[in-house]
Amino acid sequence: MTYLLGLRLDGRDVLVVGGGRVAQRRVPVLLDAGARVTLISPEVTATLEDLAAAGRLSWERRGYRPGDVRDGDLGDFWLVHVATDDPGVNAAVAEEADSVRVWCVRADDRHASSAWTPASGSAAGVTVGVIADGDPRRAAGLRDAVTEGLAEGTLDARRGREPLRGVALVGGGPGDPGLITVRGRQLLSQADVVVVDRLAPTSLLDQLPGDVEIVDAAKIPYGRSTTQEEINRVLVDRAKQGRFVVRLKGGDSFLFGRGAEEAAACVREGVPVTVVPGVTSALAGPAAAGIPATHRGVAQDVHIVSAHVAPDDERSTVDWGALARVNGTVVVLMGVERIGAIAAALIGHGRAPDTPVAIVQDATLPTQRTVVATLETVEGIAAEGGVRPPAIVVIGEVVNAARELDILHGGPDHAGSPPLSGESAARSADDRSDTGRKGNRVL
Ligand SMILES: C[S@@+](CC[C@H](N)C(=O)[O-])C[C@H]1O[C@@H](n2cnc3c(N)ncnc32)[C@H](O)[C@@H]1O
Repeated sequence: MTYLLGLRLDGRDVLVVGGGRVAQRRVPVLLDAGARVTLISPEVTATLEDLAAAGRLSWERRGYRPGDVRDGDLGDFWLVHVATDDPGVNAAVAEEADSVRVWCVRADDRHASSAWTPASGSAAGVTVGVIADGDPRRAAGLRDAVTEGLAEGTLDARRGREPLRGVALVGGGPGDPGLITVRGRQLLSQADVVVVDRLAPTSLLDQLPGDVEIVDAAKIPYGRSTTQEEINRVLVDRAKQGRFVVRLKGGDSFLFGRGAEEAAACVREGVPVTVVPGVTSALAGPAAAGIPATHRGVAQDVHIVSAHVAPDDERSTVDWGALARVNGTVVVLMGVERIGAIAAALIGHGRAPDTPVAIVQDATLPTQRTVVATLETVEGIAAEGGVRPPAIVVIGEVVNAARELDILHGGPDHAGSPPLSGESAARSADDRSDTGRKGNRVL
């Protein structure tokens, strides 16, 4: 049997002997707990060296010497971790620690260790530590199950906790429920009210307790600008009732997500706001289709633009002429209905008509498909293929690079062949939209 303690290491000295993989895993956790870490090892991993260079720990670049634990020259140690590849050194350190009644975690021999590190993790403001009678894999599995349950809300961490207040703007990622951040998921599990967008990972809502109010922002009536005002009003109103509101949005709230407007509306009314960044579809969409936004030797720059109005619309502030002159990648959101006008504007401003284009529809969702064309052919191919929003348009040589690297989803049949264009592209791309065929999905 063990006696599980939560050590409050803030400002206390901890000695780590050995600078290999075990130390690399343990040291960051000790630092996060506020410990003053001294590391003794003639060599350390690059990560530990970086921490030493940044002054986050003190590194004695040498082997262990008897007296290091006891004498107090290096610090008054409350805890020792020893993880060298020499069992004799490990035993000597553990023995010295025992002699001065300092707990010592010995990585190579748990039976000879006076203390064990539990498998630990945090979720929903709770820290969990599991010791499974010395079976670290079982402990890690249980730790994962508990932290996942807390994050998902299937274990109700709200009970007995100080309730959260205000509004959290949570970027929900591109749609796949696995692509929300851990923090976002944790806050969602604490929500009293969720105000949700159409493109957010709505399948997560099913896991929330029945008493959570779900406000479907997509269904709030009236015109577009009034809708935003209404959303702002709902956020402020519910938060002022003392309920914790999660505003769950698609992608990242601050990239074409009007997140800043919502944050400002809350701040104006004295409602505290937390912003949780999300995985934006602008980068996740191409990535999920196997297209890198940048690629060494191909594209050093990536430009993300909104085409919710066409290039020739007087409300457009996008400099399409500048985008035509760059060699890098252009990622267009909200552009699929205006793809013809976008392609014409880029060609008109001098971008090569055979510049490759990919359209990724329903990125990261089970219905994801990718259509490949060129600037010259994309309008026809998109129409013929029935491409619909939501979709990300990727323009640039990275599309061909993905094909050449054989990572464009559904592209294995065409590896090494010339860039796709025209009707054959529509057919092949459509055939190829079965991204699972080669088993090379990125997610
Ligand atoms: C109003 S913008 C919101 C963007 C969002 N804030 C983000 O960071 O991903 C909506 C556009 O995002 C793109 N989009 C969002 N989710 C998508 C998905 N799963 N697949 C493809 N495009 C997506 C589409 O271009 C869509 O028209």
